[in-house]
Amino acid sequence: MKKWVGKVRMLGLFSLMAIFLTACGKENLTALAPKGYSAERSFEVIIISILVMTIVFVVVMAIFTYVLIKYRRKKGQEDYVPEQIEGNKTLEIVWTIIPILLLVIIAVPTIATTYDLADESQKDDSINVNVTGKQFWWNFDYVNEGIQTSQDLYIPVDTRVYLNMISGDVIHSFWVPTLAGKMDVNPENENVMYIEAYEEGVYWGKCAEFCGDSHSLMDFKIVVVSQEEYDQWIENMGTPMEEEPATASAQEGKALFEQSCLSCHATDGATTAPAIGPNLTNFGNRTMIAGVLEHNKEELVEWIVDPASKKPGNGMLNAPYLQEGISTEDAEKIADYLLELKSTEVVPEFEPFEDQ
Ligand code: CUA
Repeated sequence: MKKWVGKVRMLGLFSLMAIFLTACGKENLTALAPKGYSAERSFEVIIISILVMTIVFVVVMAIFTYVLIKYRRKKGQEDYVPEQIEGNKTLEIVWTIIPILLLVIIAVPTIATTYDLADESQKDDSINVNVTGKQFWWNFDYVNEGIQTSQDLYIPVDTRVYLNMISGDVIHSFWVPTLAGKMDVNPENENVMYIEAYEEGVYWGKCAEFCGDSHSLMDFKIVVVSQEEYDQWIENMGTPMEEEPATASAQEGKALFEQSCLSCHATDGATTAPAIGPNLTNFGNRTMIAGVLEHNKEELVEWIVDPASKKPGNGMLNAPYLQEGISTEDAEKIADYLLELKSTEVVPEFEPFEDQ
């Protein structure tokens, strides 16, 4: 086989891989299509670094190719030894100064961006949310609004929101690639970051620090809504549901929930009780169940009956109701009740598994 056939094949393979890999990103889960202030600043630093690296690569490869061709051993020169040169002050100064300049070009915007993204000057006048990472879910406590929720963090568009982050157990890392960079969530010290989104929509968040069995399933969402919808959402979260569940099944589900689940899961967003499990106020409006499952009754029933199969090692495995065992019928009633807990005013538009 001719040599070039192998090379063409390799080229084909690389092109295929490139096409395959470019399809990996999702529009709401990528740092390469920023939709928020912090992500945009970080993206600029990425571009500057890649530009500098590309220039270095191209220049080095050009010199390398030139030297390879020009000084290759020619026929009849088998025993030829070229002039041996040692040391060249001018050249050495040049190739010391060039890298220094390139590093300065990268360092100046990097340091400026780092300080900009750590700016807390607007903290006191902004929305503040205390974020707690726990194996394997997120609690969101709106400091001035007196609202608690979990998994779906609602914020108004074009508004800076400060997140004060702490862990309830091990180290986690809060990451919403489309809106901002990562921030470690430690058990001992509080880390602060801010996010600001330019477009309404649902953005996918990930835990970016290995934290146990279900680390890869510790997902959450940032729901960006208009200022009016945000105000409405806060009001809904703080207003307890008065109406009784509509169906008989949901009514029975409510009783079962109060008996077996309420000691860990609040359904009142205005509660000040420490969150043992995720707060489930307006659960029917959630984008996903447990952060990773499609939001429907079937998944919810499977989750209640056998949470270990969906998210190994999660805290619900110690719940007394599971030690006693729960029938699918009872789980269905609880699911009917939980899915009825919702407002019709602020509903996130979200298709988690749609191809993008
Ligand atoms: Cu929390 Cu990984």
